[in-house]
Order: sequence, then C-alpha cells, then structure tokens
Amino acid sequence: MPPPDSRKPENHVSFMNSTSFWKLLGTLGLAFVLPWLFLVVLPYLEQSKAVPTPYAEGEEVGGEVDAYPDRTLQRYGASDYGRQIYAAEGCAYCHTQVVRPTYAGVDRWRPGWGGREGEQGNFARETQPGDYVNEGVAPLGYQRIGPDLANVGHRITTAEEMHRHLNDPKSFARDSGMPAYKHLYEPSPYGEGLVPTPKAEALVDYLLSLKKDQPLPKAYLTGN
Ligand code: HEC
Repeated sequence: MPPPDSRKPENHVSFMNSTSFWKLLGTLGLAFVLPWLFLVVLPYLEQSKAVPTPYAEGEEVGGEVDAYPDRTLQRYGASDYGRQIYAAEGCAYCHTQVVRPTYAGVDRWRPGWGGREGEQGNFARETQPGDYVNEGVAPLGYQRIGPDLANVGHRITTAEEMHRHLNDPKSFARDSGMPAYKHLYEPSPYGEGLVPTPKAEALVDYLLSLKKDQPLPKAYLTGN
C-alpha cells in the first residue's frame, strides 16, 4: 500500500482544528487585554487628567505652597539619584511608604507615622494617591519588616542619624533585623571611622525628604 499523501486534508493529523485554535488565541488575548485596559490604561488616563487642588483662602498651609499636590516637590539631581539607590538596594522589600487607610490598620496612631503631629493644624494623616504624583514609580513596598518610611523625614531629621541607621542599625535596636549597608561607606582617609560614599549621601538626601503629610485642601476631601 502506498504511504498516505500528507497533502490531502483528510490525512492531516492535528489535535485542534484551525477555528478552535483562533478561538483559544482570541480568548487568551482578551484575558490579557481586558485587565490591562481596566487596571492600567483607564486608571492612567483618569489620573493624568488630575489637576492640583488649590487651597481656599485662610486654609492652614505654611510656606509658599498654594495647591495640593505640590508639584514643586518633583525630584531632581541628588534626591532622585537617592530614590534609585533606594530601589536598587531593595529597601522596599522591608519598608513600605504608605500610611494605610484606617479601615486597613492603625498606622495613623503610630507615633510619627502619619507625619507632623501636635503641630497647630495637626497635619498627620493617611497617604493619598496624590502624594505620589512627583514619583515616576510609587515605592509602595512589598512587606513591612521595618517601619513605614512615608514620613521618616519627620522622625529622623539629621543626616548624621540617618547615616547611622544605614551603616549600623544595631546601634539603635540591638536585635534590629535591618542589614548594615556597610558597602555604601568607606574607611575614612583621616584615620578611624567610616565616610559615606556619594550613593549613601544621595540615599540619605532622599530619606530626609520623605514626607507625605502635605495638608489637604478642604475641597479635595469633599470633592467640590
Ligand atoms: C531585611 C529587612 C530590611 C531591609 C532590607 C532594610 N531595612 Fe530598614 N529597617 C528594618 C527594620 C527591622 C527596622 C527597625 C529596627 C531598626 O530601627 O533598626 C528598620 C529601620 C529603618 C529605619 C529607621 C526607621 C525609624 O522609623 O526609626 C530607616 C531610616 C531604614 N530602616 C532605612 C532603610 C533603607 C534606606 C534601606 C535600604 C538601603 C533599608 N532600611 C533596608 C529592616 C530592613
């Protein structure tokens, strides 16, 4: 008997005919495209239309700021380099930068987490989406092994103390779970001790700038 002629369609061995193949491909395509559309594209378009909300006359703000969010806080230079070091060193694996809404936790009542407390006007508050407008990537963090850093710039106010937190965390908490970032420091050329590398300087600049407690205009809260 001659071998079957594979050019004839009836001799094709196929586990799927072509219509069901296209159906499968189409369904898979939709399964990716729809979530992408609703979770990425639409929120992006919605957020990019957002404009800063001006403060009403007499609202307590301080400084030259006239609207929320304050676009002048855009990161440039050293502080932006520090943000990249924060990402590269994996700080976000142990630190979040979100003061959670109260339904999800009691962050707001942890001393210093919500920002300026006790000050006239009491600015301490939960984090709002607008707090991230000046960041290309919102460093929300993966889990909280260490404290939330959304407002660490209010709790630790000197570069000296911030450096000590990075190169010798155990000097603050004897059994601190935070690794010492010694590779960001080098031996001092003048003898004993360590001096920060430019990376450590930039990272500390960035950390000292972390403050997510800009006062919210009343109109922002009521949506008017
Ligand atoms: C393995 C987890 C871990 C990693 C990674 C980590 N930390 Fe920490 N961090 C902690 C823990 C736990 C604490 C609390 C104990 C302490 O103060 O040392 C802490 C505390 C801190 C504090 C003091 C916060 C406060 O409110 O007093 C700062 C600032 C800080 N970390 C910055 C960083 C930076 C910047 C990086 C990345 C270069 C980093 N951490 C990486 C676990 C981590």
